[in-house]
Amino acid sequence: MKILVTGGTGYIGSHTVVELQQKGHEVIIVDNFSNSEKSVLSSIEKITGILPQFEEFDLVDETRTSDFFKRHNDIGGVIHFAAYKAVGESVEKPLIYYRNNINSLLNILEGMKANNIRNLVFSSSCTVYGQPDKLPVAEDSPIKPALSPYGNTKQIAEEIISDTLKTSDIRAIMLRYFNPIGAHETAHIGELPIGVPNNLIPFITQTAIGKREVLSVFGDDYNTPDGTAIRDYIHIVDLAKAHVVALDRMIENKSLSDGEIFNLGTGNGYSVLEVIKSFEKVSGEKLNYHIVKRRSGDIEKVWADTKFANMELGWKAEKSLDEMTLSAWKWEKELSAHDSNK
Ligand code: UD1
Repeated sequence: MKILVTGGTGYIGSHTVVELQQKGHEVIIVDNFSNSEKSVLSSIEKITGILPQFEEFDLVDETRTSDFFKRHNDIGGVIHFAAYKAVGESVEKPLIYYRNNINSLLNILEGMKANNIRNLVFSSSCTVYGQPDKLPVAEDSPIKPALSPYGNTKQIAEEIISDTLKTSDIRAIMLRYFNPIGAHETAHIGELPIGVPNNLIPFITQTAIGKREVLSVFGDDYNTPDGTAIRDYIHIVDLAKAHVVALDRMIENKSLSDGEIFNLGTGNGYSVLEVIKSFEKVSGEKLNYHIVKRRSGDIEKVWADTKFANMELGWKAEKSLDEMTLSAWKWEKELSAHDSNK
């Protein structure tokens, strides 16, 4: 069955394309390369031996998107990643975030409806829970007011999808990611942050390799054992595999309802200092870091209740924190070797 992967050259998209191909799915990618590079296509081919089909256009373009679906009437499922994802930027440019993340989703849903494509996997985020009252946080926990336009686009998108399911044959699985980190074991694909990274892991690896001078740890006065904030970090390949399981679940008619939601995390919370310690251990590098004040909008602690995903999807994250930080380090070294060969 042919699967459309939007944003398939991005960080999560590219790892998912690899897993799909390795499970025998035919993949077509749509991407406008706004936050990714074309060379990712050949990197995917290096891993799987298959160059995915791809088309370059912006899914915000209604005519192009509808024309795409008409030309590809053999698509059996859609995994929708294409979206802007920088929290801080979304606060500065809310309209750009709403236009991009919401309009592309509307165009995809219209295209699916018009062409009788039933299966949608949507990339959502644990950000919808805000700071949960109860930990670990389960899928039925209340949705908290979004702290950023980015977070709000994820909440609104979940609502749009849920409403659409009521009046169409479309069914969906919405996956709420915790903190995806690390890279593919081959070090052919990984995270490619543009400019100064906002996220912890690329900042750590870039500091260790010498691209950044010092890592700022945002706050050590949280109500946690070492004072730094806690997250549920999940290896990118574990996360990617869950998408294939979710898609196959719909194709095989195993869903309990037309709209299902699953947390994708490990169930373990680690503090910023624990992540740094793991990185220093596996890399043998001493990391230059200092403590600064809290970053505004950050929550104190969150980790997933994974029971529902483990039982229902039959999927479980397998990689340890050390494996995650080691794979991120290997990827950073690969990138820097590549840069110095240019
Ligand atoms: C954020 C978003 C999430 C989004 C994800 C990916 C929120 C609440 N979460 O996750 O929705 O999907 O980014 O873009 O907005 N840290 C430092 N120093 C740094 C960078 C990070 O100490 O230089 C700390 C942060 O304070 C946080 C932890 O590391 O405690 C993880 O931060 P980050 O990787 O940015 O992810 P989130 O903020 O959890």
